[in-house]
Parts: sequence; structure tokens; C-alpha cells
Amino acid sequence: SPETTVTVGSQTYARDEMTNVTPHILSKVGSNLHNRKYHPLNLLKQRIRDHFYKNYVKPRGNPIFTVVDDLPPVVTIEQCFDSLLTPKDHVSRKPSDTYYVNRHHVLRTHTSAHQSDLIRMGCDQFLVIGDVYRRDTIDKSHYPVFHQCEGVRLFTERELLISKFSEQDMEGLTVFEQGPRIPAKQAPHTQDAVVLLEADLKWTLTRLAHDIFGKDIETQWVDCYFPFTHPSWELEIKYKGEWLEVLGCGVMEQEILNEAGAGNKVGWAFGLGLERWAMKMYDIPDIRLFWSQDSGFLSQFRVDDANTPIKYKPVSVHPQCYNDISFWIPDNYTENDFYDLVRGLGSDMVEQVELIDNFTHPKKGRTSHCYRITYRHMDRAVHQEEANKIHALITEAAINNLAVEVR
Ligand code: PHE
Repeated sequence: SPETTVTVGSQTYARDEMTNVTPHILSKVGSNLHNRKYHPLNLLKQRIRDHFYKNYVKPRGNPIFTVVDDLPPVVTIEQCFDSLLTPKDHVSRKPSDTYYVNRHHVLRTHTSAHQSDLIRMGCDQFLVIGDVYRRDTIDKSHYPVFHQCEGVRLFTERELLISKFSEQDMEGLTVFEQGPRIPAKQAPHTQDAVVLLEADLKWTLTRLAHDIFGKDIETQWVDCYFPFTHPSWELEIKYKGEWLEVLGCGVMEQEILNEAGAGNKVGWAFGLGLERWAMKMYDIPDIRLFWSQDSGFLSQFRVDDANTPIKYKPVSVHPQCYNDISFWIPDNYTENDFYDLVRGLGSDMVEQVELIDNFTHPKKGRTSHCYRITYRHMDRAVHQEEANKIHALITEAAINNLAVEVR
């Protein structure tokens, strides 16, 4: 029964104290926008796939990268976090940030969840494209379901060295050593290994960015941290005068490869968000548009050749209306609980939720939050009376389900 189980696609799971998936989120599972013909995410998927198919081939011309785009989004804690060396107290594991189906299963928070399995299956070069899920704020660039493309490339010592050196010059070079772990490298890697992997990774991704965003795009690399890569970087592109992060990547942690049975290889990995890329590429102003059923949106992407240049033209922009809600929060409250509640009731009529006031009473020690909810649907007008009705439902549900005290 629905009280004791959760059904996701064709699978049924036992509910437990960790379960926090909402009906709104579950209704999105299986949409597979990235596999829908003429959808902008599908066009972008084709562009990325074709880029790798065309530019990375074996001697007789067949592609080296395998593309996997149909893995279901429910994964185990082991796949999503443990296999990737994510620390037990890392924020990404918190139920305030992640959708738990139950204590053993989550909706994947990233496509990296499939790295280990695919390597164990013997894949040395692959792309994984799929829907990923994160509890998050509500605005024009965040939606709790989005899509990622993961890329992994492994090399044997010889494959890595031969890419830059002749047989004679390779003499004496190695990729493994037992050295210290320092900011520049992992303990089992040589500096030479990292230099070669870093160059190959950055070259591969810069080339991809230039293919997708155009030759003239400016790029820069920024050092960063991921539990599963070291060293790690983010790629930023200059878009409308500002630097924007478009992907994360790095040298794969050797322990992941060792555990997956590829201990004789080294590798790099990257992950990028398809919506982010598509919004820049096609000038799509709001992430909810990817879920639009409106022909005014979809018809603009009806092209048989994914390379056709497209710039999205807003069909009709409907007016916004907004309402504020203020309440005292209980002890166990997290903002994402409220955002999920709003998403569930407001559905795709809510454009943004902003925390506009966060106040702690000096004597009582209680905290009050005030949120401004902006209502606007992508495909039709929402009038103030309709917004007021939804706002009343949200207020009532916040009182009943989150135990807040409305001021
Ligand atoms: N999984 C990371 C994310 O979702 C991206 C990433 C993938 C980073 C692979 C490094 C290597 O943010």
C-alpha cells in the first residue's frame, strides 16, 4: 500500500524513516527528456555524443566512447556515495539535499553514481547521460530534476605515455609510484601521470566547449574539490560578461579504479549539467521551459539536424504576481522542506521562492522566515486570484505538515 511502499517506475520499495521523495518528484521519473525526439536536451545530447564519436576513434574509425543513456535513476547509497569515496558526513548525503527512496536507495544526485559499475563491466571510455535529482532552492536556473552527462576515460600506462612520447622517450617514465598525497597529486600517481592526464582532460573539454558554444568562447580553469577526483577543476566560460561554471572534472581517485578492478589504469572523469549548457546555447531563459508541453516552445526545436543553430524566442511572457508568507520555524525545519512543499502544490506555477527575511527573536530565541513566492507559469497567465488560492493551500500545508507557526 502507498503508506508502506514507494513505487518508482516499475519498482516498488519499502518506505522507512528516510523516505522523503514527494509525489511531485516521482511524477517526473521516467520523463527522460534527454531521449525525447526534438527536445532541446536531446539535441544537445546528440551534439555531445557526435563530438565524441567523431573525434575519438580507433584505428579503423569506430568510436572509442560508449554512450549509456537509459539507466534508471534509483541507485543505492553504495553507488551514489560510498563507491565514490564521499565522506559519511558530506552535505550531499543529507536528506535535506537528497531525495531518499528509503535508507538504502536514493534518486541519483549525479551520473557519477554509475562510474564504478561501468568500469567493473569493462568500459574504459564512456559517457553516461541521465536525469538527476537534488532538493534545492527555486529560481530560474534550479529545478529538482535536471540532466547530466558524465564522461570517463581510462588509460593503461602505455596508452597514456604513447599519447605524448615516442617509444624511446617513454623509456624510464612511469605513472605509478608510492609518494605523498599533495595538492598536485594522489599518493600512487607520479607527477608525470598527472601532467599528462590533466593536459588530456583539459584539452578534451576545451575542445568540446568550443564545439558546442563556438570557437570564440572564452574559457578558464578553476581548482576545486570533489571526493572522487584529485586534483579537481571546474571549467568556466564567459557568458554575457560573466564567468559561469559549466562543468566539474578531475583525475579519478585511484582507489575507485582499484575497487572496480581497473587498478592497472589511471583515468579522468567529468560531469556537466545539460540544462545549463542548453540554456546558454539556445538562450533559454528559465529552466522550467524544458518541461513545457507548449508547442510555442517545443516547435522551435523541431529540427532533424542537431547542428542547426537555434536561438529561442520567447513566445509570450506572462505577468508575474507574488505573495509573501512569514512563519516561526520549528527546530527540525530545513528550507528544502518548504521548497518541496511549494513545488508539490504550486507545481510549475512557481517561478521563484526567495527567503527575504530571516529573523531570530532576541529573547525567545525563535527564528522566523519570510519567503516571497513569485507566481508565473511558462505557458499561460496566472492571475492574482489563482495565485492567492495556491498561496492559501501552501500556507495551510506548511502549518499542517511542517509544524510552522504563521505570523
Ligand atoms: N558529479 C559531479 C557533480 O555532480 C561532477 C563531476 C563528475 C566532477 C566527475 C568530477 C568528476 O557536481
